[in-house]
Amino acid sequence: MTGGIPVCCNINEFEKFAISALGEDVADYYQGGATSESTLNNNRKAYENLKLRPRVMRDVSNRDSSLTVLGKTYRSPVGISPTAMQKLAHCEGEIATARAAGAMDAIMILSLMSTVSLEEVRAHNPSTTLWMQMYIFKERDITLDMIRRAEKAGFSAIVLTMDTAVFGSRYRDIKNQFAMPPYLSLGNFRHMEQHHVDLKCLTGISDYINTQFDDSVNWNDVSWLVKSTKLPVICKGILTGEDANLCLEVGAQGIIVSNHGGRQLDQTPATIEALPEVVQAVGDSIEVYIDGGIRYGTDVFKAVGLGAKYVFIGRASLWGLAHSGSNGVAKVLQILHFEFDQTLALCGCTCADDITREMIVHRTYYEDILKKYLSSKSTRRKSAKSQSKVHLAVLRVSKSPEKHRSKTRKLRK
Ligand SMILES: Cc1cc2nc3c(=O)[nH]c(=O)nc-3n(C[C@H](O)[C@H](O)[C@H](O)COP(=O)(O)O)c2cc1C
Repeated sequence: MTGGIPVCCNINEFEKFAISALGEDVADYYQGGATSESTLNNNRKAYENLKLRPRVMRDVSNRDSSLTVLGKTYRSPVGISPTAMQKLAHCEGEIATARAAGAMDAIMILSLMSTVSLEEVRAHNPSTTLWMQMYIFKERDITLDMIRRAEKAGFSAIVLTMDTAVFGSRYRDIKNQFAMPPYLSLGNFRHMEQHHVDLKCLTGISDYINTQFDDSVNWNDVSWLVKSTKLPVICKGILTGEDANLCLEVGAQGIIVSNHGGRQLDQTPATIEALPEVVQAVGDSIEVYIDGGIRYGTDVFKAVGLGAKYVFIGRASLWGLAHSGSNGVAKVLQILHFEFDQTLALCGCTCADDITREMIVHRTYYEDILKKYLSSKSTRRKSAKSQSKVHLAVLRVSKSPEKHRSKTRKLRK
């Protein structure tokens, strides 16, 4: 315990603490997923289904666990995905998360639905690598205005979230009648008071933004967005090879394989299951990143081994934030970094490029071997029978060693 706050050694402990410390409705909002929560749970299960085949005795004394994204190398192999309304977890909200990302040399993607404006986050964190998450609104000028603000504030990429044509059904939130508390506001939209939106009335802004979500958006709009900014555009929410190729066609510079942490369409594959299809479709033509279900350094190793150039965490950073603000987020990033480096070493790798396909296998690989092995037990019985024949022969001919030796030699052949 430090000052009454328990020390957490891994992400699960951070989660347990956060869930107990946050109000039930906020905990549910952060933790929950869409519909049956099958995708949410599968995001984790799928990592458990992958096993490591470590190589040993390979001199791993000189290790480098950094990863390179869009030409820039980051010490932390794990970045932070956009999550809305971080002041629900800690009074400093997104400012604290960005401070931790800066300290750990990780990329932070700021949610458009942040409780601190993008300018304030930047002003408090001049050296953090910040990417701005974006939606395409019905009023395209809202999107354009946000892009200009992000460009001016020195954000280095626009992340277009593409898996939210409509909102997923999050039954926990419906049951809790979850709403942003009135003492918070969506920082990036504060100026909308001038746009006849009553910000003092919470439903005013949330209703306004909800009506601004455009379910007619399509690839032409993505192309428009790419042309509307000098910043690289990263497409978030891609799960198929077909869409990955379209990202390439419209000129995007990165793809985040994501199912929104299981909060949008239920019954999609886990992101680690979808990753190989996306990587195979685009090859090296565009960088592919991943989020969803990452809780251990071994998960980072598996994702990188299957072709992700970088990985992002959503909820894990919120658990750290709820635990102890900026320090908590930094600790979460530190743990994942440490575990990734440890996994590299224990698998016989010195850097991400050393991870080979043979080091990661599906659980069924071992099941198949075991099945084959067990079905070959008739052969083993036979050999056991031969063994006992040898044994009997030894007993029978013990008085005549020479005769016995030639007989056992024949039996062994
Ligand atoms: C509470 C919460 C809020 C989120 N808000 C956003 C958001 O504003 N924009 C967005 O693109 N994704 C949002 N996401 C999805 C995350 O960016 C990310 O895809 C997901 O959390 C990754 O899964 P993980 O939480 O298992 O790491 C949110 C996720 C959570 C849990």
